[in-house]
Amino acid sequence: MWDRLKVVKRAFLRPLVAGMLTALMPAAAACSDGGEQRTGAGTRPTSSLNAPERAPAKCSTASACTTRQLADSAGVTLGTAVRADLLDEPAYRDTLLKTLNSVTPEYELKWDAIHPGPDTWNFGPVDAIVKFARSHDLRVKGHALVWDQKLVDSTPDWVLRINDPDELRTVVTKHIATTMRRYTTAVDRWDVVNEPLETLGTAMYNNHFRKVLGADYLVEVFKIARAAAPAEQLWLNEAAVEFQPAKAAALVDLVRTSLEKGAPIDGVGLQGHLVGGTVESSSLQQLIADLEALGVTVAITELDVPARDPVPPLEVQADSYRRVFEACLSQRCREVTLWGFTDRHTWIDATLGSGLEPLPFDRNYRAKPALTAIRERLDAQR
Ligand code: GLA
Repeated sequence: MWDRLKVVKRAFLRPLVAGMLTALMPAAAACSDGGEQRTGAGTRPTSSLNAPERAPAKCSTASACTTRQLADSAGVTLGTAVRADLLDEPAYRDTLLKTLNSVTPEYELKWDAIHPGPDTWNFGPVDAIVKFARSHDLRVKGHALVWDQKLVDSTPDWVLRINDPDELRTVVTKHIATTMRRYTTAVDRWDVVNEPLETLGTAMYNNHFRKVLGADYLVEVFKIARAAAPAEQLWLNEAAVEFQPAKAAALVDLVRTSLEKGAPIDGVGLQGHLVGGTVESSSLQQLIADLEALGVTVAITELDVPARDPVPPLEVQADSYRRVFEACLSQRCREVTLWGFTDRHTWIDATLGSGLEPLPFDRNYRAKPALTAIRERLDAQR
């Protein structure tokens, strides 16, 4: 049933995003080289790295540095969504380790994956990611504790069937406490609520949690998370604000009012799925500044830039990556997480069809101009 629901939701998502692709902005991206992972380039030494602020850079000139070393020496968290089932693929693992210093489980920590039944937990895939991250000094971010949207989400059917507020409160509390506490030494930051606003709109999405727990469910859920994990960073994560100014303003309002109501929000993630192919640096910069002015930390959390076929201009895609890094790093924002790093493995293929090639490495792990753009901006930050 849950699988069928996902299929139905995706069937709606595909034309919706395809429509947005057509409506929004010029095309993006195709291929070339760039950075140390150029086609045919040999393997460079992998640094021993930890969180960026603690990791000494072991290279001097930019061309001698891996992208990961550039990020470390720039004090930037450069992350990726990661999949446990791909960690044994040598090119996937090696490219990740040379390029990125942080991972976010793409599916494995979502409610339907880790807690598929009231008393059924599936910790194995997250444990594997945590073990991999520990062995390679990667940071791990937790995504996402509560997420119910119209088109795609992670709330399992058994939770959607609970209509009694007290019962749902108990279930949410148990889900959050069990998940956060198990990974308390491995994960220092959590997306507590994902996508509270309507995807294409400015209102709070009237999801299951809001319907049952009430209009202030978001404040309540953040308080539940704080009680479960007093020392951890609690984040709100939102989609499609980069190209919808009215939604960006609604997000700032939502964060402000939630903080006023006592929600312990430490940070706000801007997902950065640039379905239109590009974004204005200045408006994204302003949104980041407005959020930072509220006292929260801001990061780009799920960046990818689908390119339009049939001839995706790779330089346009690279420019979009450059603009996003510029908007972030010109403010206090010091993290950009990509939603995957190779076109070989991207959610976009399954959801919107193949050929949109949204990531900085192609299907054969060759670097694209987007990687060069990222490296140049990181180098400028060092
Ligand atoms: C949202 C979620 C991600 C991912 C993408 C693509 O952005 O936050 O976890 O699932 O959608 O489906």
